[in-house]
Amino acid sequence: MSSKAVTTIAPLPFEVEAKKLDEEEELAATMLAKLDMVSVLSSKDVFDSLMQSFPATLGKAVSKKEREELQLKDPNLVYGEITFETLGVIFEKIKKVYGRPFQGTSGPAGFLQSRGGIFYDLGSGTGKGVIGAAVLHNFDVCYGIECLEGLYTLSLDALNAYNTRGKARLIGRENDTRELVSM
Ligand SMILES: C[S@@+](CC[C@H](N)C(=O)[O-])C[C@H]1O[C@@H](n2cnc3c(N)ncnc32)[C@H](O)[C@@H]1O
Repeated sequence: MSSKAVTTIAPLPFEVEAKKLDEEEELAATMLAKLDMVSVLSSKDVFDSLMQSFPATLGKAVSKKEREELQLKDPNLVYGEITFETLGVIFEKIKKVYGRPFQGTSGPAGFLQSRGGIFYDLGSGTGKGVIGAAVLHNFDVCYGIECLEGLYTLSLDALNAYNTRGKARLIGRENDTRELVSM
């Protein structure tokens, strides 16, 4: 009886690593192809016009003053702002990739797959995240929660700008019934 020798050649560690990198690059390219940045950037004008009176420097100064006055040392209170483009990329990735029905924990309806839903920004500063979310997606309601009084007061001005000028510019887009942003 003759026996046949079977030779398998295991890939070298660097080959495994290279394959993994190729797969990651391919996934990233597929994902990027799905993102609709034209739609994100087309609503940036609305966001910019609403938030032009609230530059990041203002939020930083108001936050710093209040923290110094109240001697608040918690590093979580340090101020910074998300950009509209970054928020847009996050929403697009949820809409087109991670929030698709049955993707991960998305369930049958998925996330951000149609109008509605509730958006929360815990630590909302002057309201950039909340207003950005309301501009980018047709939520039922967007809430901002902010513990520093000065920032909260500024966010009410941002809310007023959204309700008086912003909403009107968003009406008319597909399924648009944006009603409320709340801080
Ligand atoms: C990095 S800033 C982000 C501001 C805003 N989300 C944006 O992107 O423009 C974080 C904010 O969270 C606030 N904050 C931190 N901890 C908080 C808490 N437990 N409750 C409410 N606000 C909080 C801070 O005062 C600060 O304004």
